[in-house]
Amino acid sequence: MRRDSLLLRYTDSERMNHWVIAIFFVFAGLSGLAFFHPAFFFLTNLFGGGSWSRILHPFFGVIMFVSFLGLFFRLWRANVMTPADREWRRHSADMLRGDKSKMPPVGKYNAGQKGIFWAMAVSLLVLIVTGVMFWRPWFAPYFPIVVGRAAVLLHAVAAVVLILATIIHIYAAIWVKGTLRAMTRGTVSESWARQHHALWHRDMTQGRR
Ligand code: HEM
Repeated sequence: MRRDSLLLRYTDSERMNHWVIAIFFVFAGLSGLAFFHPAFFFLTNLFGGGSWSRILHPFFGVIMFVSFLGLFFRLWRANVMTPADREWRRHSADMLRGDKSKMPPVGKYNAGQKGIFWAMAVSLLVLIVTGVMFWRPWFAPYFPIVVGRAAVLLHAVAAVVLILATIIHIYAAIWVKGTLRAMTRGTVSESWARQHHALWHRDMTQGRR
């Protein structure tokens, strides 16, 4: 597992999986925003115009959802909340103010990362279920109009949740120095692991000393 003073955090296939999700999140997000409000309609130019955006948007969404499932099944166990996460949440405001002294040692993911993971999972599930319900001409006719309208509303709410969760996710990845390379190179430095994920660092290096 050790390469010099680096620890392997993600395999190549996990990283490829992640970047497929990220790329299709951008495609689905931009083509979806184009239909959200007329002010964003110009975004359809990126996808070959209004008709093409309308045709492609659901497929972008399905690819994003299916590829997220790949990461979900690999990582859900590491994202289950534990009683120790309560302690992390209790002191998270201090951490945001710059005082990390009270933060308990955490495993592979901290409670904030876990919360974002579940927000992504739930919002993607709502997006796929509601999206299928008003996907014309294929599935929409099977649902009463009022159900289709409720689905459109829920779809928009879930999209806002996913976009906000992803903005926080990217901000945190940039804010915590040394994190981005976990998804670009697959590795993190030992000092990063010791500082931010002490229990994971211990598990990864156990038996070495
Ligand atoms: C340009 C956009 C993105 C960047 C820069 C980025 C960056 C990262 C980084 C650095 C990690 C590793 C964090 C760590 O191991 O501590 C990560 C993990 C992850 N990312 Fe992203 N990400 C992006 C977009 C997305 C999107 C759009 C999604 C899903 C909708 C996503 C879902 C995940 C998941 C599920 C993990 C694993 C973390 C966990 O299981 O809690 N990412 N990302």
